[in-house]
Amino acid sequence: MQILEATGPRSLANFASCWLCALAHLLITGGAGFIGSHTALVLLEAGHSLVVLDNFSNSSPESLRRVAELAGLSDASRLTVVEGDIRSAADLDRAFNAGARPALAPKSIEGVIHFAGLKAVGESVQEPLRYWDVNVGGSRSLVEAMRRHGCRRLVFSSSATLYGYPEAGPIPETAPVQPINPYGHSKAAAEQLLADVAGSEPGWHIARLRYFNPVGAHPSGRIGEDPGGTPNNLFPFISQVAVGRRPQLQVFGGDWPTADGTGVRDYIHVMDLAEGHRAAIDRLLSHAPELLTLNLGSGQGHSVLELVRAFEQASGCSVPTAIGARREGDAASTVADPSRAATVLGWRTRRSLAEICRDGWAWQRANPQGYGSPTSA
Ligand SMILES: NC(=O)c1ccc[n+]([C@@H]2O[C@H](COP(=O)([O-])OP(=O)(O)OC[C@H]3O[C@@H](n4cnc5c(N)ncnc54)[C@H](O)[C@@H]3O)[C@@H](O)[C@H]2O)c1
Repeated sequence: MQILEATGPRSLANFASCWLCALAHLLITGGAGFIGSHTALVLLEAGHSLVVLDNFSNSSPESLRRVAELAGLSDASRLTVVEGDIRSAADLDRAFNAGARPALAPKSIEGVIHFAGLKAVGESVQEPLRYWDVNVGGSRSLVEAMRRHGCRRLVFSSSATLYGYPEAGPIPETAPVQPINPYGHSKAAAEQLLADVAGSEPGWHIARLRYFNPVGAHPSGRIGEDPGGTPNNLFPFISQVAVGRRPQLQVFGGDWPTADGTGVRDYIHVMDLAEGHRAAIDRLLSHAPELLTLNLGSGQGHSVLELVRAFEQASGCSVPTAIGARREGDAASTVADPSRAATVLGWRTRRSLAEICRDGWAWQRANPQGYGSPTSA
C-alpha cells in the first residue's frame, strides 16, 4: 500500500506487483471509513485494484493498513491511498491519476464508489452549511472530476434517513423522499444531483444505494467502526458500554408502538453491505447505462432491547440500560423492503443478528480504543 500526500508518495509497505488479477480499477472516496474499509477489503479480495481518496477527517490510515494485511496484499499497485478532499479538484485529479500503473500500461479509473461524507444527524442540525458543502458540494466536485476523466460509473452512499417518518411496514424505494434533518436533505440533494446528471447526457451508470443500519465488523476483529467522541449510533454505543468505556446505554423511548416499546431498526452486517457494493459495481461495469435506486437492508426489524440482549449473549458482558424519553426525529420502526436489490443485483443479506454481535464484539474487544491504541498488533 502506498499513501500519496500533497507533497508526494509515502510508502508504508512495499509489495510485489500483481496486475493480472485486477478486474477493474476503481476509486473509493472515504475508503478509510467504516463502510469504505470493509468494502475495500471485499473488492480487493475480488481482484479489483483500488485508489482510495480520504482526508482522514473521521478515520485513520491504520484501517487501510489492516485492509491490505487482511487482503494479503503483497502488491503496491493494487491499493493506493491519496490523502485529499473530495471538494478539491486538484486532489480529485491526483486520485484519478494515481496508482495501479507502475509496471504495466496506464489504466484509468473505470468506476467510483463514493462513501466520503458527513453522517451525524445531530451535528447536521448544528452545522447545515458544512453538510451541504461536503455531501452536496463534494458530490458535485466528484462528478465534475469524473466527467474530466471520462469515467461514468458511480455507486453512491445514500441513506434510509431519506424516508423521514415512514409508513408502517417494509419501506420500498417508491416510498416518498421526505427527509427531516439537514443530513437527510443533503443526501436527497446529492441523489437528485445524480439523477439530473444522468438525465442530462447519455452514458451514465449510477447506483444510489440507500443503507439502513450498518453495524458489526469484519469477523477477524481487525477492522470495524471507530467513531470519534460519543457514538451517534446505537451499536457502537452498546459495544462501548460492554467493554467498559461507558457506564450505561440510554434508550430513547420505551413507549413506541412496537412489541417491547423500544424502536425497531433494520440492522445490516457491514460485510453484507460491502458485498452489496461489490454486486452494484459489478452490475455497473457489465450492464448498459442506467440509474438505479436500491435499498440495502435485511428486511428484518429488531428492537433496541433485542439488540442489547443479542450483544450481551455474544459478549458475555452485561449492558446496563436506562429507558428515557423519546428523542425528537426518531421513528418507531424503520425496516427495508430489500426485494428490488435481490432482483436487480442478485444480492441479499446472509448474516444474522447473532453474527453481527459476535463480529462487532470481536472488533471492540481487540480494539477497545478503536484504531487509536489497539491491544493487538
Ligand atoms: N454508517 C451509517 O450508519 C450510514 C448509514 C447510511 C448512509 N451512510 C453513508 O455512508 C457513507 C460512509 O459512512 P461511514 O459510516 O463509513 O462513515 P465514516 O465517517 O466512517 O466514513 C466516511 C469517510 O469519508 C472521509 N471523508 C469525510 N469527508 C471527506 C472529504 N471532504 N474528503 C475526503 N474524505 C472525506 C472520512 O475521513 C471517512 O473516512 C457516508 O456517506 C454516510 O453518509 C452511513
